[in-house]
Amino acid sequence: MSSALGVSRVAVWKQIKALINEGYDIESSSRGYGLKTGGDLVGLSLASPPGNRIMFFPSLSSTMDRARLLARNGTPHFTVVIAEHQEKGRGRLNRTWLSQRGGLWFTIVLRPNLPAQLSFKVNFAASLCLAQTLNLLFNINARVKWPNDILVDDQKLVGLLSEMETRGDMISFVNVGIGINVNNQPEKEQPNAVSISTILGQRVSRVEILSQFLVSFQDILENILKKNIIELWKRQSSTIGQQVRIETLNEQFEGVALDVDESGALILMHGDQTTQRVIYGDCFHRGVHS
Ligand code: BTN
Repeated sequence: MSSALGVSRVAVWKQIKALINEGYDIESSSRGYGLKTGGDLVGLSLASPPGNRIMFFPSLSSTMDRARLLARNGTPHFTVVIAEHQEKGRGRLNRTWLSQRGGLWFTIVLRPNLPAQLSFKVNFAASLCLAQTLNLLFNINARVKWPNDILVDDQKLVGLLSEMETRGDMISFVNVGIGINVNNQPEKEQPNAVSISTILGQRVSRVEILSQFLVSFQDILENILKKNIIELWKRQSSTIGQQVRIETLNEQFEGVALDVDESGALILMHGDQTTQRVIYGDCFHRGVHS
């Protein structure tokens, strides 16, 4: 390569290193360099549905921060912000979200024409649609967990975080941040997390996941008021009927998850048969720390 281009071997290596940092999966051997499977996200704009604004960044502090900035500056509905790596990925309840290379970390800026009190529909639609997409692509029995995670065999495959700003009673924007463990290996740091490549025993295309999901999600959003999202979500859920522990910023409580009502709240039954309506928090199935 260096003689064909008339540059030094070190100069070639520097460029190869830059490509590796952008997510390309390149192997080196005594014969030179070979492209394995990676770099799939870089070419995403080619594979994405027409009309979407897709922005790819090799590294960001968090796609949530960049998406919020873009949303406040008027970026259009369905802008997608993707990062190969996040320095400060974040999860619900102020937790850190580990964002190793090989995962799929992105935030979608949405401007649905909906009153703020219906924003829960967007979040439930996103997790439902993603679970269905993953099942169709990989046949992995992905189930949704209240409020918006996706589990396979009670191990966390996907986390979802949403942030909203309103104008009057209406949504100005709702940013849906999604972290999918794809070709990374989260189980090393988080024993109750799993990735698609670990489940299948092979690497898979992140572009395929993202482009299929974006097409289906766009379709669901266009018809969101006509669909009973919560009913559909419940059919795909692994939470209802389980003994669960709920954590909020200040409290913890346990009970049986009886139902999810039409506003997305979890109905919990305590040991003394009293019920409680839980509107936010994190939910752990029978001592599983997902
Ligand atoms: C959770 O399970 O607590 C939610 C995790 C959400 C992680 C995603 S990764 C893309 C986006 N950017 C972030 O910093 N967080 C979300």
